[in-house]
Amino acid sequence: MSLTHTLSRLALGVGLTLGSVGLVQAADDDVKIGFIVKKPEQAWFINEQDAATKLGEEEGFEVVRLAGEDGQQVLSAIDNLNSQGAQGFVICPPDVRLGPAIVNRAEQYGMKVVTVDDQFVGPDGKPMASVPHLGMSGYKIGRQVGNAIAEEMKARGWDPENVAALRITNYELPTAKERTDGATDALLESGFEKANIFDAPQQNTDTSSAFAAASPVFSKHGDFEHWVIYALNEESVLGGVRASEQYGLSPDQVIGVGINGSGAAFAEFSREKPTGFYGTVAVSSTMHGRQSAENLYEWITDGKKPPADTQTTGTLMTRDNWKQVREDLNL
Ligand code: GLA
Repeated sequence: MSLTHTLSRLALGVGLTLGSVGLVQAADDDVKIGFIVKKPEQAWFINEQDAATKLGEEEGFEVVRLAGEDGQQVLSAIDNLNSQGAQGFVICPPDVRLGPAIVNRAEQYGMKVVTVDDQFVGPDGKPMASVPHLGMSGYKIGRQVGNAIAEEMKARGWDPENVAALRITNYELPTAKERTDGATDALLESGFEKANIFDAPQQNTDTSSAFAAASPVFSKHGDFEHWVIYALNEESVLGGVRASEQYGLSPDQVIGVGINGSGAAFAEFSREKPTGFYGTVAVSSTMHGRQSAENLYEWITDGKKPPADTQTTGTLMTRDNWKQVREDLNL
């Protein structure tokens, strides 16, 4: 065989290979996924959706951003995705008990589902292990909150006798309960008075519902000199801090520590003067958005089902280090 012949066969081979890569590329281009979130206006969720969209642009699939603030809206979002030809969706549901209904609707359409942040709960009240999930290690991160509060109490020289805790709770949501339980346990271990912890049950996971839940607690227990505030997220802690200000407490009487490390915290740390919002345990919403979208994309394209439960960790962010932590976590 002549050299030119060999070379041209090689070239043909390369051409064929490139041709088939082209085909695979074309098939991947058709992948479309939804990203449905319960609170589309919150910085945490905006960032998750941005990160998923960016990954889609890099890897050649389309991400449709949708709001699902209640069951009805979620179901129509799924219908909408189906009519657009989407093969699956990532979701942080408005109510984890909607899990079975959401899975049902997705199955009707042959769509794949993964959850992010808030894990579906089945009819037996247990997490739905059949749906791959990515979320915070709630209890551990809660403990970080409790420890951060305890250390700051010591640094300020507070006497536990005169310190009350405003615990803003959402016991319907397992990840919320894990987080506040973790914080409570760490506080109690540090010597916090159990009788000084007061619950403010919120109906929703946002600032206004936390504010509404917190206000009456301050009025009822106004005799305490110092307060600590914790909740499932920083938006809720900010609601508690705003309620403490309205009640007339000054920033040096309050230690609020949140969870998330998103725009809400950055805005607070950027204020000229410190407020009662002392810190927040930051978790990478960028990573949550990217990784959950990536998991779903690989499931759709390679048939590789994502891990049943991925748990992420956090870093304490305060006025002193927030810019650095923000950079480190790619936020
Ligand atoms: C829940 C909270 C959000 C955020 C995510 C992170 O959904 O409501 O604010 O903390 O968890 O997993």
